[in-house]
Amino acid sequence: MSETKQIGGGAPCHVAIIMDGNGRWAQRRFMPRVEGHRRGVQSVRRVIEAAAKRGVRYLSLFAFSSENWRRPPEEVSALMKLFATALHKEAQAMLEHGVRLRVAGDLTAFSEEIQQSIRKSEALTEHCDRMVLTVCANYGGRWDVVEAFKNILKRHPEVAAHPERITESLIDENLAFDWAPPVDLMIRTGGEQRISNFILWQAAYAELFASPTLWPDFDETDLEEALNWYSRRERRFGMTGEQIQALGEDK
Ligand code: IPE
Ligand code: IPE
Ligand code: MG
Repeated sequence: MSETKQIGGGAPCHVAIIMDGNGRWAQRRFMPRVEGHRRGVQSVRRVIEAAAKRGVRYLSLFAFSSENWRRPPEEVSALMKLFATALHKEAQAMLEHGVRLRVAGDLTAFSEEIQQSIRKSEALTEHCDRMVLTVCANYGGRWDVVEAFKNILKRHPEVAAHPERITESLIDENLAFDWAPPVDLMIRTGGEQRISNFILWQAAYAELFASPTLWPDFDETDLEEALNWYSRRERRFGMTGEQIQALGEDK
């Protein structure tokens, strides 16, 4: 099992962040919610740099959930505009930092212009190998699992007559970001302690860190705190603490 390689904390290979609290950040300042989202983009930039510096290899950011369409139409359209502008602006910076950009989610719901901009930014940074940044847009953990089953049946139609051929690794390979290893550390900012349909399957053994900091205020120090907390966790993967200690001594 690939997870056993990451026993004993250390540095997480895959960090996923639920960037929450933009609205509250703005409301506390008597500003429109969208101002919080705008400031949130600056945190994204800071955190990408900080994570790459700390040696994180995969960073996945929840930008827009499949449930966020339920928000007032003005907020949804402001978020779309911000997303399009940020993609355009940040792709060049990512290239300079050696960060490969990928986008995961149901992209068919986005305008043709945004879809094109996504493809362009992904192609521009295709060769970058310092860190893979996955922006999850119109993403939902349940959507991802449903799509994986559809993909399995499309790519391997024989499975319909042989359900015993469905394995965990077959599901892994057919998920939206089949390029990333399981999530080691999931951070949620803004104080809430829920997953809100973010990565489900690949986060089965993720350590969960709830930061009280609202996303627009989240900086290098907050990330550092989460990473230090993670390094002290004992990941057991179903075993006992004694077994884990023994494995550590064998190394
Ligand atoms: C997260 O901040 C950003 C998105 C969901 C796009 P929120 O907008 O959810 O902020 P709060 O939770 O209302 O403060
Ligand atoms: C989760 O935050 C989605 C993103 C951060 C993109 P929400 O603010 O939408 O989550 P809930 O609705 O409070 O659970
Ligand atoms: Mg929220």
